[in-house]
Amino acid sequence: MATEPLNDAEGLTLDHITVRFGGLLALDDVSLRVTPGRTVGIIGPNGAGKTTLFNVVCGFVAPQSGALTLDGKPFRPKPHHLTRRGIARTLQGVGQFNGMTVLENVLVGARSGKPEADAWEALERCGVAEHARALPGSLPYAKRKRVELARALAARPRILMLDEPAGGLDADEIRWLADLIQGAETTVLLVEHHMELVMSVCDEILVLDFGRPIALGSPAEIRTNDKVAEAYLGAAA
Ligand SMILES: Nc1ncnc2c1ncn2[C@@H]1O[C@H](COP(=O)(O)OP(=O)(O)OP(=O)(O)O)[C@@H](O)[C@H]1O
Ligand SMILES: [Mg+2]
Repeated sequence: MATEPLNDAEGLTLDHITVRFGGLLALDDVSLRVTPGRTVGIIGPNGAGKTTLFNVVCGFVAPQSGALTLDGKPFRPKPHHLTRRGIARTLQGVGQFNGMTVLENVLVGARSGKPEADAWEALERCGVAEHARALPGSLPYAKRKRVELARALAARPRILMLDEPAGGLDADEIRWLADLIQGAETTVLLVEHHMELVMSVCDEILVLDFGRPIALGSPAEIRTNDKVAEAYLGAAA
């Protein structure tokens, strides 16, 4: 299959993003370029600013300074325009509406002219189609995490943002998740504490510590980076 030449401007960029919550610097001059098709990990100790970074990309948090671009154009994200712009996200934990069935929840994510077909395809892909008529609350946690993924995939995003998708999952479920991420034909932004998963699926990893970007590189580079080791040791102390 012929591939289009990659335009330098394609993809998502964060340019010198700073976010303050009162006196707390949640993101301190963070820049990141996310090239189409890549899987980019964002790691760091608790409170490092990972979810805040996602919230900036989704328009839930407006940065005090810095800018975003999407495909080379200024990007001022609004939560209700995200799927239209090709961006879908899962929430940390499980985020379903419990008064609705699994299928109805996943339909909320769909945006194309054929939402039913996209919802079913996403449910199949996540192995939860048999639970389509169930209420999410009646399912085990791991299944609910899969429904959360299906909801995001139903939007057929170009950029899939996953906030701690492995949280609370066992080794088998994490292997399944790794396969799904590796097989995804989209750009993936992955916030995750599970290092083995991050190291196995990411092309590139950004490390935050107290809002500051302390390292950016390949899994091999991040694994052997002294500053990264120090940040995690400090957090564990
Ligand atoms: N809306 C908010 N108002 C005030 N402070 C906030 C808000 N959102 C986040 N924070 C603070 O900003 C810092 C970064 O939080 P964030 O949730 O981005 O961290 P995180 O890296 O996702 O952590 P975790 O690994 O625990 O999910 C934390 O100190 C947090 O308490
Ligand atoms: Mg978080």
